[in-house]
Amino acid sequence: MSDFASLFQPFTLKGVTFSSRIAMAPMTRSFSPGGVPTEDVAGYYQRRAAADVGLIITEGTTIRRGGASGDPAIPNIHEPEAIEGWKNVVEKVHEVDGKIAPQVWHQGIARRAGTGPHPEAPSDSPSGITHKGKALYDPPTIADVEDMISAFAESIETSKNAGFDCVEIHGAHGYLVDQFFWEVLNVRADKYGGSITSRAEFAAEIVSEARKRVGPDYPIILRMSQWKLFDYDARLVTTPKDLENFLNVLVDAGVDCIHCSQRRYWEPEFPEVDGENGLNLAGWAKKLTGLPTITVGSVGLSTEFTAAFRGDGAKTRPLIDVVERLEKGEFDMIAVGRALLQDPEWAKKVKEGRLDELDDYSADSLKTLS
Ligand SMILES: Cc1cc2nc3c(=O)[nH]c(=O)nc-3n(C[C@H](O)[C@H](O)[C@H](O)COP(=O)(O)O)c2cc1C
Repeated sequence: MSDFASLFQPFTLKGVTFSSRIAMAPMTRSFSPGGVPTEDVAGYYQRRAAADVGLIITEGTTIRRGGASGDPAIPNIHEPEAIEGWKNVVEKVHEVDGKIAPQVWHQGIARRAGTGPHPEAPSDSPSGITHKGKALYDPPTIADVEDMISAFAESIETSKNAGFDCVEIHGAHGYLVDQFFWEVLNVRADKYGGSITSRAEFAAEIVSEARKRVGPDYPIILRMSQWKLFDYDARLVTTPKDLENFLNVLVDAGVDCIHCSQRRYWEPEFPEVDGENGLNLAGWAKKLTGLPTITVGSVGLSTEFTAAFRGDGAKTRPLIDVVERLEKGEFDMIAVGRALLQDPEWAKKVKEGRLDELDDYSADSLKTLS
């Protein structure tokens, strides 16, 4: 057994078996003109699925609301042509025995006004305010919020009908779902605002509405984060008890797996409780809910540390560190973003011990769908 063998053990989520513990992290690429994923997009995901990535989580793909997307080259998952494009992507990934989930997304107020496929549409958000408290729009009515929920549920149903093996809801990074979670952007006085559990209501209704449509067996993953695009230090919750209360609303609604987004996976979530080497966000989410979790954040970014036994660099960690934590059961899967963007064969090379063939991530790799 190589040091990394446990990364290549299968994992089953509600009857869907992933061939390895490595998930491709969702990464927006903007190579889908008119919102339609192309043959090149299909090839891009197929190459990674063919090279030992157990679960592809696609780039964020937007739902049926005019303001969901700020870029016409971001794929959507509600228009017929885009759905056909996604069916082709699914087929290509299945051809190589891979598994794939779309990440359903609405940018909310993070979308720049006047951009995207429907520049005329207003941006959606819980309260119409920016993170600095500036009022940009009237707060949506209950009927508007219910339509946002329906639009998410429709795309989740579409994902099942298009053949995707499971689905991920983008509830992280300060986009619409996370805007409802965050007290800075959600100042609603109705059932969607207030305490952290009330702020989880929007996502909970998406999950329960989706659950009615996809049935009990279709895996629903929820991605969450403490950090926001506009505020890396933001926190939704500051104690394990609050995290437990928050997550349990989502678990009760029918979430099957929690994908905990951190910028660096090794940062302890509540060091005041279990120390500087304590559990990360995925570790706490798993401990508090009993659900499987996915971790992410700077895995495999520097080859200098990939093979080294233990590094204490602030920016990277040796790969063996995340593998040991997986083996201890802190989390169940590891999402890899930039390293897999850089090299479609990243996982296969790790499996085969070809660490000397890995390149460091370079932003140049963003220019093409290699
Ligand atoms: C180019 C790029 C696009 C991204 N787009 C998304 C996205 O659409 N949805 C999302 O949840 N996260 C997105 N992320 C965040 C990644 O999923 C991941 O959490 C982050 O890159 C950290 O993982 P890494 O250190 O392995 O790259 C993106 C990251 C990059 C680099």
